[in-house]
Amino acid sequence: MIETIKTEAEISQCAEIMISSEPWLRLGTTFAEAVATLKDPDNHTYIANTKEGPAGFVTITLKGSLPGYIKRIAVKEEYRSTQIGEKLMQFAEELIFPITKNVFLCVSDFNYGAVRFYNRLGYEKIGEIKDYIIPGSSEIIMRKTKGPLKM
Ligand SMILES: CC(C)(COP(=O)(O)OP(=O)(O)OC[C@H]1O[C@@H](n2cnc3c(N)ncnc32)[C@H](O)[C@@H]1OP(=O)(O)O)[C@@H](O)C(=O)NCCC(=O)NCCS
Repeated sequence: MIETIKTEAEISQCAEIMISSEPWLRLGTTFAEAVATLKDPDNHTYIANTKEGPAGFVTITLKGSLPGYIKRIAVKEEYRSTQIGEKLMQFAEELIFPITKNVFLCVSDFNYGAVRFYNRLGYEKIGEIKDYIIPGSSEIIMRKTKGPLKM
């Protein structure tokens, strides 16, 4: 079941998923930073819940200069490659596409598995920000679109 993140325990468990996984290990994200971003009121985080707690989560932003932005997605290692990530992406798209024609996201260039995952779901590279988070790595900007804003 996918639902809004609510409790401190869920926030802590999602922060643990982040800080124990790439790309956040390489990007040097701390537990406190992960908790802060999961609590940021400008974002919305949804968890794929199980009896053991969140198996994964997706965070989206509906405001800002690129509304319809998937800020991050992560699935706990033992649940990966069981389509939970794909279901979380579908859930996010169902919230975003009624509001705008584009879904945007960024992915680190060294995260080949995630780039393949997004390509398979219909996302295309539209740009690259060099040396954005850490030196020597780029963030790839990707988009899935239903067409121009004005048609
Ligand atoms: C990317 C991710 C969210 C996909 O979730 P998932 O539930 O495993 O996804 P699905 O089962 O729907 O699809 C599997 C695909 O995910 C990708 N994937 C699997 N394990 C991965 C990993 N450790 N890191 C990155 N991508 C991975 C692969 O493309 C895989 O396809 P393949 O089996 O053809 O290689 C998940 O693997 C993950 O949490 N990765 C680490 C965090 C991350 O890279 N997040 C994206 C950047 S913000």
